[in-house]
Amino acid sequence: MTKAKVLVTGGTGYIGAHTVVELESAGYEAVIVDNFSNSSRDVLEGIAKITGKDPLFIEADCADYNSFAKVFELYPDICAAIHFAAYKAVGESVEKPLDYYRNNLDSLLNLIDFMGKKEHASIVFSSSCTVYGQPEKKHLPVSEEAPLQPATSPYGNTKQICEEILRDCTISYNGKLNVIALRYFNPIGAHPSALIGELPRGVPQNLLPFITQTAAGLRERLSVFGNDYNTPDGSCIRDYIYVCDLAKAHVSALDRMMEEKPEIAGSIEYFNLGTGVGISVLQMLELFKKATGIAVPYRIVDRRPGDVEQVWADPSRANSVLGWRADTPIEEVLASAWRWEKKIRGI
Ligand code: NAD
Ligand code: WQD
Repeated sequence: MTKAKVLVTGGTGYIGAHTVVELESAGYEAVIVDNFSNSSRDVLEGIAKITGKDPLFIEADCADYNSFAKVFELYPDICAAIHFAAYKAVGESVEKPLDYYRNNLDSLLNLIDFMGKKEHASIVFSSSCTVYGQPEKKHLPVSEEAPLQPATSPYGNTKQICEEILRDCTISYNGKLNVIALRYFNPIGAHPSALIGELPRGVPQNLLPFITQTAAGLRERLSVFGNDYNTPDGSCIRDYIYVCDLAKAHVSALDRMMEEKPEIAGSIEYFNLGTGVGISVLQMLELFKKATGIAVPYRIVDRRPGDVEQVWADPSRANSVLGWRADTPIEEVLASAWRWEKKIRGI
């Protein structure tokens, strides 16, 4: 029996597509809205092949009120939303701040406006560990109580502002609006089927897509952005979380809100989604070789401006409250990323 109809904005994107698969598997019916500004229609086919049915889909711009309105006219029974739709490239946000503020803020404002017209609404919001900036050593691993740092990019600022907007609206909507903000650490990998995965446009900014493209021969070598940090091997440390584990956390968050527990009515909750394990850039290269047999060529270059030295999650609240854990072994995750790269390159 289908549980409920859930709006998934940005649902043909990297994390959205993997989440739609998990939603359908959990008995929810996803309604995907996307404008393909950073994804392609082919993703719908990949989702359908995995789930066995075509997902409900509407092409619309969430930042455009009238375009977004048609979704709620067509599907008035949407009772919850997972909001992935946003631009997410840190560097690009510095070059085009207005595009990022308009798109990421207007999309959320429209979503709240439409969802707020319902008797009761639940929103899961895609946030980011970027809100913590570089935590002080005493705050590592990072819990949800760690202080937020001033954003170092317009992108990161849109995430902080969106969290504040949602916090204010849960108060103003006086119990009608429930929010869970999921602060992702570093999502990586691809669905085991290799039917969906990450599709970076142009030169990948993120580490793992650059590694897999180098392994596939598209890039000459990986540039390691600095090995003079105050870490065991000098390279930066991150918490790399399997995108399928991350997707499952969204189902757990939705389940929690669908129960409509009185104690969380009209509240906003925050959860750090990571493995709780920090891995350095140089360790990732070693792990990739262990998982695939491929020694990716690299060189050490200067630090990348804006990089934080080391950040990894304390996921204990998500583990206990959501009953969720990121437990896929890193070698399996890296192998999934390599399978996906080979699939899209026809290797
Ligand atoms: P993505 O770019 O692959 O997916 C975002 C999707 O939203 C794309 O399909 C894009 O076409 C769509 N979109 C953007 N603006 C839209 C609009 N106005 N209307 C309709 N569709 C729109 O990104 P992702 O990696 O899947 O990230 C999803 C969410 O998670 C984003 O909000 C991002 O900020 C957040 N996040 C991502 C990471 C990461 O490392 N990937 C980490 C933390 C948080
Ligand atoms: C990881 C590590 C780099 C590429 C970013 C965004 C963040 C979030 C996740 C949206 C860093 C190093 C990378 C390369 C390298 N996105 N690296 N050579 O920077 O932790 O987070 O993506 O919310 O907001 O900032 O991820 O994958 O870019 O980098 O040495 O070619 O790999 O220096 O230490 P990051 P990343």
